Amino acid sequence: MSERAGRNGGGAVLELHDLSVRIPVSGGRWVEAVGGVTLTVGSAEIVGLVGESGCGKSTLGGAIMGLLPGGSRVAGEVLLRGQDLRGLAEEDYRRIRGDDIALVSQDPSASLDPTFPVGAQVAEAIRNHRDVSRRAARERAVELLRVVGIPDPGARYADPPHRFSGGMKQRVVIAAALANDPAVLIADEPTTALDVTIQAQILHLLRDLTVRSGTGVLLITHDLGVVAQVCDRVAVMYAGQVVEQGTVREVFAHPSHPYTRALLESQPAAHHRSGDLPVIPGRVPDLSEPPAGCRFAARCPRAHDRCAAPPPEIRTAGGGRVSCWLHHDTAREAR
Ligand SMILES: Nc1ncnc2c1ncn2[C@@H]1O[C@H](COP(=O)(O)OP(=O)(O)O)[C@@H](O)[C@H]1O
Ligand SMILES: [Mg+2]
Repeated sequence: MSERAGRNGGGAVLELHDLSVRIPVSGGRWVEAVGGVTLTVGSAEIVGLVGESGCGKSTLGGAIMGLLPGGSRVAGEVLLRGQDLRGLAEEDYRRIRGDDIALVSQDPSASLDPTFPVGAQVAEAIRNHRDVSRRAARERAVELLRVVGIPDPGARYADPPHRFSGGMKQRVVIAAALANDPAVLIADEPTTALDVTIQAQILHLLRDLTVRSGTGVLLITHDLGVVAQVCDRVAVMYAGQVVEQGTVREVFAHPSHPYTRALLESQPAAHHRSGDLPVIPGRVPDLSEPPAGCRFAARCPRAHDRCAAPPPEIRTAGGGRVSCWLHHDTAREAR
C-alpha cells in the first residue's frame, strides 16, 4: 500500500491533510492546538498518536469527531473514506458519529449514563443509527457484551454501570463504540485510568476487534509502551505538530527526531523501577505564540542556529518521515 493512499479508497479510511485547529481564548487570542498535521490511517490499521500532555492530541481527535470547543477554527482536510468532514453541519455529524466514526475516551464513567442499564446503552447505540426492532437490538447488544468479554452478558445486561469495575465499564464503552462497525475509531487514552494488567487486556481486545472488522484506529496516548503493544505505525506529536512518523518497529529501533529519542528515554521500562522517572527538561511551548522555527529547539540537546527556521520534512531510510534539520544533509526532502 502506498504511504499516501488515494482519496477514493486504496485502504485509507482516514486522511488528515495539513489539519490545523485554533481555539479561541480570553483577550481575543487564539491557541493553535494543532498546527498542520498530515496523517493517514488505513483499514484494520492501528496508528498511535503519542506526545506529552498539551501537545494537541485530544484536540486532533476532537477535530475528527466534530467535537471542538465553541468558536474553534479548523483548516485543512479531514477525509473519512474520501469524504471531507470539515464544515459538515452538526446534524450530519450526529448521523456519522457513533456510526462511521466512534470515540472511546479515558473515563468510561463519563461515557455511560449512570442511571441506565449497560445493555440498554449498547442497544441504544445501535438503534440510534439502525432501523431495527428493540428485540433485535437487544440480542445484538448481548452478543456485543459477550464479544468484549462481559461474563454472563444476558444477566448483566440490566445492571447499571456502578455494578462494573473500571475495566468492565471500558469494555461496555468499546461494545457501544463498535456496535455499528465504524470505519474509524478514535481511542483517546482508553486505558490510562486502568491498572496495568487490565490495560493490556483492553488494548488486546481493541486490537482483535478492530482488525477483525477492518476499523482503522487512531490510538492517542502519552505512553510509548501502549504504542509498542498494539500499534502498527506511530506519529509523534510535539506542540501541535507531527514531528516524526513511521512504523512502530522502525521508529522504536531508529528514532530520528530528538524529541522521539527523549520520549523513548523517559519511559519507565527503560530505567530501574526504584529510580526517579527521568523527564524531558523544559516544557511544551505556549501554543498561543508558537515558536517560528522548530518548536522543540528550546529543549533540544542538538539545537543549532538553523533551527530558528521551520525544519524540512525528510523521508527516513526506513520509509518514515521526520521534521528536523539534523537529517537535512543526509536525506532528500519528503515533499
Ligand atoms: N477548551 C480549550 N480552551 C483553551 N485551550 C485549550 C482547550 N482545549 C485544549 N486547549 C489547549 O490546546 C493545547 C492542546 O491541548 P490538548 O489537545 O488537550 O493536548 P493533549 O491531548 O496532547 O494533552 C493545549 O495548549 C491546551 O491548553
Ligand atoms: Mg489529551
